Amino acid sequence: MKVENFKMDTSESKKLLDAEAQAFSSAARIKYYDIVIDHGKGAIITDVDGNDYIDLLASASSTNTGHAHPKVVKAVTDQAQKLLQYTPAYFANTNGAKLAPKLASLAPMSGPVEVAWGNSGSDANDAIIKFSRAYTGRQYIVTFTGAYHGSTYGSMTASSVSLNMTRKMGPLLPGIVKVPFPDPWERESGESEANFVDRMFRAFKLPFETYLPAEEVAAILIEPIQGDGGLIKVPDAYMHKIYDFAKANGILFCIDEINQGMGRTGKWWSIQNFDGIEPDLMSVGKSLASGLPLSAVVGRQEIMESLGAPGHLFTTAGNPVTTAASLATFEVIEEEHLVERSAELGKKAKAFFDQEAAKYDFIGDVRMYGLNGGIDIIDPETGQGDSEATTKLMYRAFELGVIIISLRGNILRFQPPLVITEEQLDQAFDVLDQAFSELAAGKLELPAGHMGW
Ligand SMILES: Cc1ncc(COP(=O)(O)O)c(C=O)c1O
Repeated sequence: MKVENFKMDTSESKKLLDAEAQAFSSAARIKYYDIVIDHGKGAIITDVDGNDYIDLLASASSTNTGHAHPKVVKAVTDQAQKLLQYTPAYFANTNGAKLAPKLASLAPMSGPVEVAWGNSGSDANDAIIKFSRAYTGRQYIVTFTGAYHGSTYGSMTASSVSLNMTRKMGPLLPGIVKVPFPDPWERESGESEANFVDRMFRAFKLPFETYLPAEEVAAILIEPIQGDGGLIKVPDAYMHKIYDFAKANGILFCIDEINQGMGRTGKWWSIQNFDGIEPDLMSVGKSLASGLPLSAVVGRQEIMESLGAPGHLFTTAGNPVTTAASLATFEVIEEEHLVERSAELGKKAKAFFDQEAAKYDFIGDVRMYGLNGGIDIIDPETGQGDSEATTKLMYRAFELGVIIISLRGNILRFQPPLVITEEQLDQAFDVLDQAFSELAAGKLELPAGHMGW
């Protein structure tokens, strides 16, 4: 498909944005482009002025099945005709009753597994805090720098990616301890991966040796591939060291699959990119119901039975419409082989970005796990991240009809819907190639105003 109807006249978008600005809090949106999205199909989104864009963001990895997938739309509309809502807090509904065993059967855990519904990824991470404390009778939770776990008090306390997530809002939830994420940026020049992992594991253990009794720690919560932290996979050896440490000390090993689950990494769950690791609890959301508000905490049965009602329930969580969307989402992912597709197209994307990195010295590390990657944009002189160049690049891509945003200021975030066609992908690559070459030629200007985190 050709993106041919792009035009710069965004007057309807502008009008709506101006009206919205009177009544909308700045805390609730990270600003990028002045568009108002009206509709979408597959990997294409269209704004109110009729401009089409190839979407390389997939609504922050929440529409892995693509926009308005006919099967998901049909499931939602059929269910909406029958019953919009009856609270699962009191009575089961048909779709929710089918979905719970389906999700439990796919969990990367052996033995009986149970789920509890939520409305957002954030509350699913709160659930990890609740259930792990309840099961172990311990209070502390260990999380990692660079993590994004959400926006409720529990999940934002567990996060560590932006000062605006804590500034002016303390006191935060007590009992959460942060340790350094093994971020390759922290690797010293000449340091081997093994030495880096040893050094990071020593940093992990430092709190346990100085002020944090391991027997009082309920859970370690980690994103196996950090999303907002820069699309960075935990080094395999490090993952095994902290996993073994958790097992040796009766600490639950918990993972956040909200951004990286549901086929995004070329596996159902990002933890399946590591051998021999079984989480005790995991949080799922975003693409679970193709972006409708449904999340889940999924865990070993004995842990999930450690709380009694109403310890973790919400009026609308597991609602008949969102669970209909989720059942259809699982069918689409299976029928259209989207997990395999993510792995295959991810190879194509990696080849493209590697080839660009060979051409342009401002492209640093290229990480790709499935159709899911982070591309570092750096100042070739210093090797440091270059946020200005990143902003110029993504804005130029936007002008040319491709939606891509950044992480940490200088990392291009590449997460298209998994249904994107090869033709659309090629078209997006042509646009990115043009933007890269224009940046190299010094032709790109910084857009007005701040963009990003
Ligand atoms: C890894 C991860 N965990 C949790 C969340 C929070 O999910 P939600 O915004 O649905 O509350 C996000 C959202 O970006 C995320 O990327």
